[in-house]
Amino acid sequence: MMPIASPSRVELSEPLALLRWLESDPVSVSLGAIDPIELWGLVALAARARTDGEAPLRVNLEQASRSCQFARAVGFEDVLSGAGGLASAAAERGRTVKLARIQRHASTEPPSDQISRLLVADPALEDTRRTLYYVLNELLRNVVQHSQDRLGGIVGAQLNRGGRNSDLPMVQVAVVDAGIGIPVSLQSRHTSLADAGAALEKSLWPHISSTFDEGETGSAQNAGMGLFFISEMTKLVGGRLVIATRGATLTLQGDENFEDPHGIQKVHKGVGYPGTLVAFEMPVDAVQDYDSMIETIRERARERTPRRAIHKWLSFEAPPAGTFKFVVRSTGVEDAREAQRFSEDQLMPRLVKRQSVALDFVGIPTCTQSYVHALLYEALRLAWARKTPIYILNAQPAVKSTLELLENYALGG
Ligand SMILES: Nc1ncnc2c1ncn2[C@@H]1O[C@H](COP(=O)(O)OP(=O)(O)O)[C@@H](O)[C@H]1O
Ligand SMILES: [Mg+2]
Repeated sequence: MMPIASPSRVELSEPLALLRWLESDPVSVSLGAIDPIELWGLVALAARARTDGEAPLRVNLEQASRSCQFARAVGFEDVLSGAGGLASAAAERGRTVKLARIQRHASTEPPSDQISRLLVADPALEDTRRTLYYVLNELLRNVVQHSQDRLGGIVGAQLNRGGRNSDLPMVQVAVVDAGIGIPVSLQSRHTSLADAGAALEKSLWPHISSTFDEGETGSAQNAGMGLFFISEMTKLVGGRLVIATRGATLTLQGDENFEDPHGIQKVHKGVGYPGTLVAFEMPVDAVQDYDSMIETIRERARERTPRRAIHKWLSFEAPPAGTFKFVVRSTGVEDAREAQRFSEDQLMPRLVKRQSVALDFVGIPTCTQSYVHALLYEALRLAWARKTPIYILNAQPAVKSTLELLENYALGG
């Protein structure tokens, strides 16, 4: 391919210039020639420039330019060699965190928690921090579960109060891998998807996943809801989402006025990223009430999940005497893998024997769909098959609603 010049600016509002240039397979770039470069651009370059990767892109950051200083401040050079390790650290507390690698077999909740706390430390912005946690965790899970990049992925986050953002401070997060890409992953199951653009568009639908067939609503580990939730969040917070993957790029601009919270979505075919790049940006103070935002998204998910008979194998009533009780301990950070293990070791063997079980959610104000899915998707299907209810105790409204959505889809598909 003809070498083309690197772009002079890299901003999320105009993502195609950097993507087109990366598709021309450049061998080197002088970072000083790009100004400004937003964080997502650095992450996009870093994933191509990992020194343990194949044919790494050489990124020259010797100059004293703003972009080179920015790159050094976020630990760009360390993440290339993997020296930065998994644990991420504050570059400038409350502004940027150091770029970090997520390893292929890592659990995703601790780094998501750590990064969102470092970036949004102000307790007044708790709802924003929880939104970022959700987005980071789903994106990192996707790298770990689907990318097949042996080096894992790279994650970065920035809080931007300056420049064009001085009136409207923004947070931006980016997660990038150099793996197989969304279309190849999804087409392995959904063979009728015509091209990369169609596959990318489909990946945002609820209950679409490479881990189960269309018409079903989940597998042991997945509900196919990650990208759906992230895209709905983008709309509701008036944010911006860019997903670039092999063969296509999707851009979504949310509506800041909340009047038509559906946003403008476009798919650009023929320009993508050699792997998967997801960048998400939102105004820092856009989320006033995280729980009601999640509730709105759940409602939209329910509308798009086929209506089926109503089952009641999750019971919020008092369990009969002799029921095994488990307290779902809150350690502060969720762990979906541990939840799944607990389900397999403790819940399912009892349900197989038609012994009913009770789960006590005391002290847990909220949990993500991924976590509840890992904990109860298979157990609930088993409860239905064995006609043995699972009792739920002390569920707060936000937890109850998460469980009800799970029951709605788990017993349908
Ligand atoms: N980083 C990635 N690399 C490859 N494929 C991906 C990546 N992220 C998402 N996908 C594809 O998009 C699908 C939908 O993702 P998602 O909505 O998070 O649902 P789930 O992860 O539960 O399957 C995945 O099943 C996978 O096929
Ligand atoms: Mg996912």
